[in-house]
Amino acid sequence: MKNYKIVLLSGDGIGPEISEVSIRILQKLAIRFDFKFTINKELFGGIAIDNCGVPAPEKTIQACKESDAVLLACVGDNKYDSLDRSIRPETGLLKLRSELNLFANIRPVKIRKSLISSSSLKEEIVKDVDLIVVRELTGGIYFGEPRGIIKANDEEKGFNTMSYKSSEVKRITEVAIDIAKGRSKKICSVDKANVLEVSQLWRDNVKEIIMKHPEIQLSNMYVDNAAMQLIKDPKQFDVILTNNLFGDILSDLSAMLTGSIGMLPSASLTLKGPGVFEPVHGSAPDIAGQNIANPIAMALSTAMMLRIAFNEIKAADLIESAIDKVLSEGFRTADLRDNTSKLISCSEMGQRIIEEI
Ligand code: IPM
Ligand code: MN
Repeated sequence: MKNYKIVLLSGDGIGPEISEVSIRILQKLAIRFDFKFTINKELFGGIAIDNCGVPAPEKTIQACKESDAVLLACVGDNKYDSLDRSIRPETGLLKLRSELNLFANIRPVKIRKSLISSSSLKEEIVKDVDLIVVRELTGGIYFGEPRGIIKANDEEKGFNTMSYKSSEVKRITEVAIDIAKGRSKKICSVDKANVLEVSQLWRDNVKEIIMKHPEIQLSNMYVDNAAMQLIKDPKQFDVILTNNLFGDILSDLSAMLTGSIGMLPSASLTLKGPGVFEPVHGSAPDIAGQNIANPIAMALSTAMMLRIAFNEIKAADLIESAIDKVLSEGFRTADLRDNTSKLISCSEMGQRIIEEI
């Protein structure tokens, strides 16, 4: 029997609550299917700072590297904002991405039928939205050097560098092509080539690679326009290919098409080695420990792990259909609540999903 080695980083804020739901989902699946899991919990984020002084301890990184897949909930809390940048929770996340070479971040944005009315946009705009943001994750302005805050004449000056090598653009483009081939074969590459040289290089390299795949239809869009088009007519998009910073912003924007950022899963992948599967949302410290968080993005990330890392398609499908069933019965966590829905807690949402599995 297959035994998958999973490292669980439940992190901070609502992380432990939503992780608990995913663990129980996995346990239920292991009873129903012919596989086992070994879940190894490691410290990461604020909790690691509290215990070891750093957000991504060497032991955690090593365990992740030796795993079959990493499930990550979320990290961060305002209480770490005053720490030196080098040891903040977010820096730990960037270190994990970089150490595991997770250059490809896949963020599917799919509106679930029973949630159409939860979106802040009109039903006819969001109905049938089904797009994927393919975000470059280990380059661009997040990692570019030089960076810093220096004294310049009589004042301070802060600066960052947005840079890409053509090899980095090409490999993320290949990932987008692979995904597009399994879908409608349309890629929209988002950049700011009217102003930034780095975007010109992005655009040229994307074009060069996609030209080798005549079945793929490529369009280019400036990021400001893309933000507008995502609100105006999101259905025009299928695969959105973009850099680290633009992908960060556009994926939060796209999340709201689905009604709540509490619904969006993601996968961060490399060519060879374990991927990290995590919800797009943050740690929501304001509601932590109250059992009111939405565990669905984490559960959908668990489904992505089963599908992509383990090729356990049936088990992944089962999580998704169980979620749809519970939502279709009108049950909602607080973030999704409307006048007609039945408000339930995080753990009860988990329980109901598990009962449908
Ligand atoms: C995300 C998050 C991270 C990012 C932060 C927490 C560093 O917003 O995964 O989208 O900016 O990449
Ligand atoms: Mn983000």
